[in-house]
Amino acid sequence: MMQKIYGLLGFPLAHSFSQAYFTSKFQALGLYGFSYQLFEQPAVSAVRTIFDKNSDLVGLNVTIPHKIAVIPYLDSLDDSAILVGAVNVVKRLKNNDLRGYNTDFIGLKQHLEILLKQQKGMEALILGNGGAARAARAAVGSLGFTSKTVSRSPHKEFCYEDLSSEIMANHLLIIQTTPLGTWPNVESCPAIPYQSFTPQHIAYDLVYNPSETLFMKKASAFGAQTFNGLTMLHNQAEAAWAIWQNDETISSL
Ligand SMILES: NC(=O)c1ccc[n+]([C@@H]2O[C@H](COP(=O)([O-])OP(=O)(O)OC[C@H]3O[C@@H](n4cnc5c(N)ncnc54)[C@H](OP(=O)(O)O)[C@@H]3O)[C@@H](O)[C@H]2O)c1
Repeated sequence: MMQKIYGLLGFPLAHSFSQAYFTSKFQALGLYGFSYQLFEQPAVSAVRTIFDKNSDLVGLNVTIPHKIAVIPYLDSLDDSAILVGAVNVVKRLKNNDLRGYNTDFIGLKQHLEILLKQQKGMEALILGNGGAARAARAAVGSLGFTSKTVSRSPHKEFCYEDLSSEIMANHLLIIQTTPLGTWPNVESCPAIPYQSFTPQHIAYDLVYNPSETLFMKKASAFGAQTFNGLTMLHNQAEAAWAIWQNDETISSL
């Protein structure tokens, strides 16, 4: 039986649905020698050793907190990873080189494209400034919308303390890209003025476990439409699968 290994590199990984998603996909496709393993590593430098030690390893998903830090350990980057400045998919090429891609960007763009079909000139606030925030900025920008980043660091456009009711009113799409609210820390959420949400707002949380985060609950209490990150997760996983199976580049940038 042909053995192939895929996996997830990050730390921590207890919250992730990726292993369950790919395991049931392999079963549904009758790919009995295929497995999806968790590589829970606090140090991203482990990436090359993981490939060297697992000769059947085809590719990895990369998650928090390694999406930016993994880049220097790779041999080349696809245009998607160059555009975003972060990597969430690694593929071992035929010559054993490691190539980085970004399918978070594709996954979010595909979902936002559907959600925002009727919208024009919408401005977005992106909460957080890590690897997923970079994908969110690229996705929003590629759909022709502008975005501003909200960070705890004073170097970005807004700090959390800056968020007035006027800024909230001018940004009808709020994308939550921090890990706040992820299981088991379900009682945390970003410090934003939730009372400024309205039914015109979309509150989009990249977190998908739990399915309704505290951020979503609080935004929904003021009428906002809310979405969790599950659709994006499935979209990015399918795009990763396509890369590992066939494509060396993402053609739909
Ligand atoms: N649904 C999906 O398909 C999908 C895809 C990608 C990521 N995600 C989720 O998105 C989240 C972020 O992933 P990532 O890879 O971007 O992680 P990351 O690179 O570590 O970045 C997270 C960012 O969140 C902010 N942050 C971290 N801790 C915080 C805290 N206690 N309070 C306020 N802000 C905080 C930080 O920004 P500042 O320091 O600038 O404030 C940090 O840069 C994770 O929960 C991940 O599971 C979901």
